[in-house]
Amino acid sequence: MRKMKRFLALSAAVMLAAATAGCGNSASTPAAAAVGSSEAKTEAKPAAAGTQVWRMAFNQTEEHPQYKMMEEFSKAFKERTDGRYEIKLFPNETLGSQRETMEQVQSGVIEMSIVNNTHPGSVSDYFKAFDMPFVFENVEEAIAFVKTSPVMDTVKTDTQQYGFRIATYLPAGTRSMFTAKQPIKSVADMKGLKIRTMESDVYVSMMDAFGGSATPMSMGEIYTAIQSGVVDGAENNEITYVNSKFYEVAPYWSQTNHLIVPDWLIINADVYNSLSDEDRAVFDELCEEGLDKVHVLWNNKVDELMASLDTSKVTITTDVDARSFMAAIAPVNEKLVASNPKIKEVYDALQEFRK
Ligand code: GCU
Repeated sequence: MRKMKRFLALSAAVMLAAATAGCGNSASTPAAAAVGSSEAKTEAKPAAAGTQVWRMAFNQTEEHPQYKMMEEFSKAFKERTDGRYEIKLFPNETLGSQRETMEQVQSGVIEMSIVNNTHPGSVSDYFKAFDMPFVFENVEEAIAFVKTSPVMDTVKTDTQQYGFRIATYLPAGTRSMFTAKQPIKSVADMKGLKIRTMESDVYVSMMDAFGGSATPMSMGEIYTAIQSGVVDGAENNEITYVNSKFYEVAPYWSQTNHLIVPDWLIINADVYNSLSDEDRAVFDELCEEGLDKVHVLWNNKVDELMASLDTSKVTITTDVDARSFMAAIAPVNEKLVASNPKIKEVYDALQEFRK
C-alpha cells in the first residue's frame, strides 16, 4: 500500500515536471528520467530570460489558510523579483503525502512543501519538543516563542545538513479528538480506541498514554480509514476537520486541545542558497509576513467553520476534562525531555522564554 502510494506520488511528480516544462521556465524542469537521480536536482541559477518556476506541495485543500497565504506569497514573490521566480502550488496531496514531499524537497525533485512538524522531527530531534502534548499554553505563546527564542536559530538551521531549510513556522491551530461513535469527555473515554495519528513515535506514545492505540497514516488515508472502521477516529484542528469533511465519518468533535503542533514551510537548501541577496531578502520577508497572515486567516475562520456544521448530525463537546489528558501525558513528556538533549534544549529554552 505504502509502496503503491509512493509510486503514484513519484509518477505524479514526473507528470507534473513534464507539465511544467512548457511553462516558459527553463530552470526547473527535471526530466522524467532524472527523477530520483542527482540530475533531478533543481538547477541553482535562473535562466537569464525567463521565470524560474518552483513547485510547492500542499496536502490540503485550496480553502486552507496556509494555501490562501501561499497564493499571495507566490504573486508577491513574482512581482517583487521582477518575474524571476514564481511558485506553483500543488494542493490536495497531488505530489504525494507530506513525508514523500519532504523527501522530494530534500533531493531537489521539487523546491518547496508545507509539512507538519513530525516530518522535520524524523530527521532532527529538536523538532520533537513541539510534538509534545500541552507543551504550549496556546498558539500565541508558540508563535512568540518561535519568533524570539534564540534556540530557534539552532533548530531551524539543523535541517540544512539534510538538504532543506525551514523557511517559516506556520500556525496550524490546536488539535482535538474526533470519533465515529461516541464523544470523548475525559481521558477514560479513550480506552481501547484506535486513533489515527501523524507518523511520529511521539504520537504513538501519546496515544498509549491516553489509553487508546495509535494508527499512524498520512492525511489522504484518514477519511476512508474512519469510514471503513480501520480506526475509530483521529485528531486534528477545526479547519482541517471541516475542510476535509471528516465530520461526515466522525461526527463527534471533542475539544481536547491536546496539541499545538506547527507546520513548517520548507525549501530545498541549494535552491534557497542560489537566491541573490536581494531576492533572498524578499523571500525572507514574505516568509515572516506569511506566518502572521496565516495566524490572522486562521482565527477569522475557525469559529465560522465550526458554526457551519449541522448540529443535528455533528455533536460538539466542549466541556472536556483536559486535566485528565494532561495528567496522563505528564510522565511521558518528562521522560521524553530527560531522554534526549536536543528535545531538552528546546524545552529548557521554552521555560527560559516564560520567565
Ligand atoms: C494538520 C496539519 C497538517 C497535517 C495534518 C495531519 O492539519 O496542519 O500539516 O498534515 O494535520 O494530521 O496529517
